[in-house]
Amino acid sequence: MGAKYIPEPFRIKMVETIKMLTREERKQKIAEAKYNMFNLRGEDVYIDLLTDSGTNAMSQEQWAGVIRGDEAYAGGSSYFKLVEAAQDIFGYKYIQPVHQGRAAEKVMFGILLGQDKYSISNTHFDTTRAHVEATGARAIDCVVEVAKDPAKRAPFKGNMDVEKLESLIKEYGDNKVGLVVMTITNNSAGGQPVSVQNVRETAAICKNHGIKLCIDAARYAENAYFVKEREEGYSDKSIKEIVKEMFGYADMFTMSAKKDTIVNMGGLIGVKDDEKLFQACKERTILFEGFITYGGLSGRDLESLAIGLYEGLDENYLKYRIGQMKYLASRLDEAGITYQSPVGGHGVFVDAKAMLPQIPFYEFPAQALAIELYIEAGIRSCDIGSYMMGNDPDTGKQIKSEFEFTRLAIPRRVYTQSHFDVMADALISIKERASEIHGYRITWEPAVLRHFQASLEPVEI
Ligand code: F0G
Repeated sequence: MGAKYIPEPFRIKMVETIKMLTREERKQKIAEAKYNMFNLRGEDVYIDLLTDSGTNAMSQEQWAGVIRGDEAYAGGSSYFKLVEAAQDIFGYKYIQPVHQGRAAEKVMFGILLGQDKYSISNTHFDTTRAHVEATGARAIDCVVEVAKDPAKRAPFKGNMDVEKLESLIKEYGDNKVGLVVMTITNNSAGGQPVSVQNVRETAAICKNHGIKLCIDAARYAENAYFVKEREEGYSDKSIKEIVKEMFGYADMFTMSAKKDTIVNMGGLIGVKDDEKLFQACKERTILFEGFITYGGLSGRDLESLAIGLYEGLDENYLKYRIGQMKYLASRLDEAGITYQSPVGGHGVFVDAKAMLPQIPFYEFPAQALAIELYIEAGIRSCDIGSYMMGNDPDTGKQIKSEFEFTRLAIPRRVYTQSHFDVMADALISIKERASEIHGYRITWEPAVLRHFQASLEPVEI
């Protein structure tokens, strides 16, 4: 028996019309977009699963907050409301709003990293990696081995490989490792959770070596839900208690608030107690983002973010949210389609390497599957694989990714069960003609974060 779809714990008050083009029109649109999902117009997409970032539906309370937002340049009440909410949830002394996650990375990493330094992470997200490299440092991923086998089920496939972390620190030297980043949930490994125990062990290693531990907190609430469901000793704890314990082990966090805090724009920096570090963050925030009491956001954004921080922790909502992933995953199980399993928090990561074994990594199987999903049903997804990884900054050579995932990232509180059936049906019909699908080659690419802008063309067969 497949997983039951958990009914929405809300009703719909406002709608946005979406339209489905014909198959021929979609073929033309994707060719015009140079086979790059980011070049498609939103209006030409039927179900938009490009990202769960900033694509969420806010609640009536959040929209009411938009009206209440205090737009004072300095010292607005919405700023204080946000800081108090974040202090209450994370237990950190210092909180700084910024306009999105990568802004937090730019502010923080420039202080702790630089030429000849290393950042080690369970997995750096692509912009996180890019911001590490932009300081002149290098980003090393160190996820547990089990994460690399999509078909193998394990409760915490997002975890840091702590033994490898220890040996990497010994190899590079304590003073060369500027930062350890714990990404919760581990986005690039498939939205996979990290256990509290793993954060505790990682923190102990960092402390021993005098290295700061930073949580990349984009999907902290979904991670806490998995801890409650799967980790021994946590089933009776509230999501808020789990979050507080987890953050208590780290020194600071950077957060894209466009995910679990259910808003369309925003980010946060948190520093537990290091006043000097926070002072440096404030200075860089003023330089890059704007004055510290708005951090590149409007007062209305700060207000809806303060409300969203609490809404994202609601267990009924999280049960429904993770339930959507489980529902789609169980339909794929029935069809024998493999994905990073068990399914993660914010999307289903289909194993394109398994579905399209004829396409080598340098012809981007996960991008090829994303293109087919658009042609098949107007679904926009994205590549989390070699196409996204890009080229090695030292050798300029194409990196071979550990994974070739086509990510169907699910916006929060946006799509219903019938949309999920469209997704499953599309993947099933693509699987039936999988052997006819070919790869793609890049005809133009920019120097950094190429997947956002590159042009592609089909490889002739
Ligand atoms: N860290 C993680 C784990 C992320 O997933 C993202 C963004 C960022 C940092 C950067 O945050 O976009 O607000 O600047 N992830 C989005 C995604 C874009 O589609 O997964 P940002």
